[in-house]
Amino acid sequence: MNSATIYLDNATTSFPKPETVYEAVDTYQRRTGAAFARGTHGSESADSVADRCRHQLAQLIGAQDPRSVAFTFNATDGLNLLLRGMLRSGDHVLTTTLEHNSVVRPLEQLADRLSITVDYVPFDSASGVIDSNQFEQICRTQSPSLVVLNMASNVTGIVQPLSQMIRVAKSAAATVLVDGSQAVGHVPLNVETLEVDLLAAPGHKALGGPLGTGFVYVRPSLHDRMISFRCGGTGTDSSSVQQPALMPELLESGNLNMPGIAGLAEALTWRNTDEFRNLLERRHRQIPELIRRLSEVPRVTVCCEGSVDQNVGVVSFFVEGIDPHEVAVILSQSFGIQCRAGLHCAPLAHRTLGTESSGGTIRLSPGLFTTDDEIDQAIHAVSQIVSAY
Ligand SMILES: Cc1ncc(COP(=O)(O)O)c(C=O)c1O
Repeated sequence: MNSATIYLDNATTSFPKPETVYEAVDTYQRRTGAAFARGTHGSESADSVADRCRHQLAQLIGAQDPRSVAFTFNATDGLNLLLRGMLRSGDHVLTTTLEHNSVVRPLEQLADRLSITVDYVPFDSASGVIDSNQFEQICRTQSPSLVVLNMASNVTGIVQPLSQMIRVAKSAAATVLVDGSQAVGHVPLNVETLEVDLLAAPGHKALGGPLGTGFVYVRPSLHDRMISFRCGGTGTDSSSVQQPALMPELLESGNLNMPGIAGLAEALTWRNTDEFRNLLERRHRQIPELIRRLSEVPRVTVCCEGSVDQNVGVVSFFVEGIDPHEVAVILSQSFGIQCRAGLHCAPLAHRTLGTESSGGTIRLSPGLFTTDDEIDQAIHAVSQIVSAY
């Protein structure tokens, strides 16, 4: 990426990363090098890096036992581990039309292969919030075994009223899985107080870690039910031909992405600095301003623009009369602005928003390092495109 580029695709993966993250990855690759839990040279350093990161993640999400946290390679990997590990033939899953294909595709495949049933509750296209009446009614009348909830949408950016929805799901005795991909790192989450049973999140988006990092949380009372679909060497209990039953080994077969985990640990440490706090403050000011100013551009419609306070910083819009992909290409080629256009791997969300057949939306997702000037340039660029067409 050249220095003139304005990167507004942090919902895909955050860029740049804090400087200490690059240093940690580099140091790990050059000086430590060892694999986790394999007893090779330097393995103690590897183990302490992984333990430190696991503790930091547990603390971040309020998990009492760090062993309930397992490393994954991204959120998709974690969602697959959790869904395939938890669901059994005949189960009924209740989820929402906000879900990313990382939830929808494994569920649809399991529906075909295991004859589970899946219901999708829609959201209100103006507020971006799940239809609580329909959600409550299905929970009450059909007692789903698993409820899968999106914490914040990668299309609208809107944070869902999780505590209210989880209360309803729990009163129907459902297990609750949360996809925290767009929210963890932006919105505080405590798995104990919220009673989240299962959580999947990336390390490489809002948390600022490297690509190839992610994690899952599994409530201790569910460890026994979890089956790992990724079996293999864990560096522990090598005399056994059975997959370890204990977390986190249960879900951590094969060598971990240790350089990535070293970077993620530094990214989590960086969140305690004044630099982070200052950038966060700027972001809290920037996002509502971006939504407000973009909405003022003629022919531009920002999805769920009224719910500014609930937006994690994922701003989707469309321009009347111009294909979203065309807008993105012009933003990139004429203004050096990197963003994403289309359905963002969430076709059901676009169906609910009414943007599926018109090619989806253009999505701007600023990051912590996005400057005010870059926001100004993005709004100016959209205005220029609108007036030229
Ligand atoms: C809501 C949501 N779920 C899951 C994913 C998949 O995340 P990953 O890229 O870490 O696999 C994304 C990615 O953008 C997402 O936005």
